Amino acid sequence: MKLNIIPYPNSVRYLHGRVKPDALSGCRFELCKGMDESAYTLVIKPDGVTARASGEKGLFYAKQTVNQLLLQNEIPCCVIEDRPAFEYRGFMVDCVRHIVSIEETKRLIDAAASVKMNVMHWHLSDDQGFRLQIEKRPELAEKSAYRKASLFGDENDRTPYGTSFTKDEIREVIDYAAQRFIEVIPEIDMPGHTCAILHAYPELSCRKVPIDVQMKQGIFPDILCAGNEAVFELVFDILSEVCELFPSEYIHIGGDEAPKGRWKECPECQRKIKELNLKDEEELQGWFVNRIVDYLKSKGRKAIVWNESLKSGKVKGVTVQRWMEKNTLSAAYANGGGRVIMSDFYHYYADYPYAMTPLKKTYNYSPYIKGLNAQGRANVAGVETPLWTEYVKDFDRLCFMWFPRFTAVAETGWTLEKYKDEADFERRFECYRPILESFSIKSADKAEWNPWVGKRLKNTVSFFMPAIKSFFKKD
Ligand code: ACM
Ligand code: ZN
Repeated sequence: MKLNIIPYPNSVRYLHGRVKPDALSGCRFELCKGMDESAYTLVIKPDGVTARASGEKGLFYAKQTVNQLLLQNEIPCCVIEDRPAFEYRGFMVDCVRHIVSIEETKRLIDAAASVKMNVMHWHLSDDQGFRLQIEKRPELAEKSAYRKASLFGDENDRTPYGTSFTKDEIREVIDYAAQRFIEVIPEIDMPGHTCAILHAYPELSCRKVPIDVQMKQGIFPDILCAGNEAVFELVFDILSEVCELFPSEYIHIGGDEAPKGRWKECPECQRKIKELNLKDEEELQGWFVNRIVDYLKSKGRKAIVWNESLKSGKVKGVTVQRWMEKNTLSAAYANGGGRVIMSDFYHYYADYPYAMTPLKKTYNYSPYIKGLNAQGRANVAGVETPLWTEYVKDFDRLCFMWFPRFTAVAETGWTLEKYKDEADFERRFECYRPILESFSIKSADKAEWNPWVGKRLKNTVSFFMPAIKSFFKKD
């Protein structure tokens, strides 16, 4: 008989005998100095069940294991000695393209906590909206938070859409997560993915022309002008309040998908390149990012950036979130001592259908990517699954897309590779499913997880068709 636990524990020693679940209801929780703060031990014997950890965090993880074991009819007596494989085990909520409410966000936090994840990356700003209220800059809530309609796919719903979360709502989420040992890391994406910000402050774009909060998915040419000091005043105003609000050690500052066309044509950006003696626009992005990193440092915070920010070769001292790259910059960065989080597009992006990213593919992904040496492996902080919400119209759809892939990433974050087993994970997921249901999270049925090749092809094409149609359609 195996233990039905996700993530699977890193050491299980079986003893003689079995106990009924009620034995676990009487579990004693004891503090035991000297253990790592995330580690716990659970001893299940016919004469009693004891959990030990050095503090509340370890005991919380022991409780998650107990909660899952309570669903078994019988539990084999055993000693579990468990601790995470990786320090960073995260998920990313995009509340911009589709608003994920505060209540729904809490349900996702519950799900994450139940599988011992410890980071929620909150993507709060993008081309299609800005979801945070900044007192010094009320225009962000008044103008940047709303788009005229949503044109994701080939439908135009012709309905204005938007909101911005109050600081009290944000605090509520931070506290809720903290009680479950989950850190909330906010992301303010820059210099690209900033059309919503530029809608409120068109003078901060290179061309200084009106810019809409975007209604479609995509990468947009207008980005923050790197040659304009007023851009940094705005960014520092935002980050100052972000740092006051979020206690996280890290703040995510984006840095992905920033096309350089506008910077190439902008006299102010070109002047800045000359003044700083930079080689090109990539180096200008490197300078831009470093300036924000220094600002965060002055506030006692560290930065996370998407992997594009490595292109300049100038950005140092940040954590890099690797999602897509043709080269091996992230591996080289880790080998050189930099911290990297793995969020591989082809394996961990849960906005793409199971046809494109079957559960098996997500589950079997190794965060130890090609090109890492021993030092590089040690600098892999962990894993994160993002879910971008252009094609997610409600929370049930979001849950269908994410679960069980979310849970598979959690297992990779916690369980050492040598103990992972995909077929057994699928079996254990069915035992764990009621826990998700207790948070009103409906996961995809097993028949969806690993479609056969014909269905994969057909469903992948039909998934992309609306985006292709929308690309060619005039508004
Ligand atoms: C990303 O998917 N643009 C990080
Ligand atoms: Zn410019």
